[in-house]
Amino acid sequence: MTGPSAPRSHGRLALRPSAQPRDLMAESRVAAGAWTARVITLFPDAFPGTLGLSLTGKALEMGLWALEAIDLRPLGEGRHRNVDDTPAGGGAGMVLRADVMHRALEIASAGTPVDRASWPTVYLSPRGKPFTQAMARDWAQAQGVTLICGRFEGVDQRVIDHWAVEEVSLGDFVLTGGEIAAQALIDATVRLIPRVLGNQMSAEEESFSEGLLEFPQYTRPPLWEGRAIPDILLSGHHAKITDWRRGQAERLTKQRRPDLWRAYCAAHGRDPDEDREL
Ligand SMILES: C[S@@+](CC[C@H](N)C(=O)[O-])C[C@H]1O[C@@H](n2cnc3c(N)ncnc32)[C@H](O)[C@@H]1O
Repeated sequence: MTGPSAPRSHGRLALRPSAQPRDLMAESRVAAGAWTARVITLFPDAFPGTLGLSLTGKALEMGLWALEAIDLRPLGEGRHRNVDDTPAGGGAGMVLRADVMHRALEIASAGTPVDRASWPTVYLSPRGKPFTQAMARDWAQAQGVTLICGRFEGVDQRVIDHWAVEEVSLGDFVLTGGEIAAQALIDATVRLIPRVLGNQMSAEEESFSEGLLEFPQYTRPPLWEGRAIPDILLSGHHAKITDWRRGQAERLTKQRRPDLWRAYCAAHGRDPDEDREL
């Protein structure tokens, strides 16, 4: 892909055309199959943003995943590269044009599998189905994902329908644009790709991995502001620690997320109203 709206790649190995054989090998490693996020946005400079930091940033540099921002602006109409127009039927704000977004989706779809399970195409939208850890797990198994970041009042419905785009929400609130939501979804997904997290066990133990919220965590000092770390965690008795943590995870889930608790009980043949001391 060339031209003004060719995806802008992030991450050292995904990015630099270079005559150095080592880099060329590294680039082909990325092209050969690193999980890739293609993000359609009016603000490509917002990327990689927080994704360039810490473990996700290191993994991006190592080519364990790749990020390509597709700038919507150069695909706009006319001399001013207009990407939006007033809503049909009247009302406040502006709507991203179907024809402009269509061009971006054509660029984003180049070389991607047709099968949506292998490459989900998603519009970040407060109207969408809520993003979950299960979706992050599915996406991490795919070859990549295309994410559309809306702005203003959103995107013309016709292009969403034409491309059978899935709508996914970060939660029941309204952001100014989809970029923060895209970064959150990419972060949640990328950390499930093997080798991105140093210790894969930590992804297996944390909140939602088994349908429960995570147990409370503690670290040094053992006594802080008169508050002690629970004795059991300092006992060295691993089986008892595992039991305690499970009990705490169940207690917190029951208290804070009755919806998750009911689903967990149904999956484990438990009565959600059981009077067991948690
Ligand atoms: C101001 S919002 C548009 C809200 C839209 N008019 C509505 O009421 O549903 C602009 C863009 O921000 C993004 N956005 C806002 N809230 C979001 C959320 N909760 N989850 C995901 N994306 C969101 C979407 O891409 C959306 O098109």
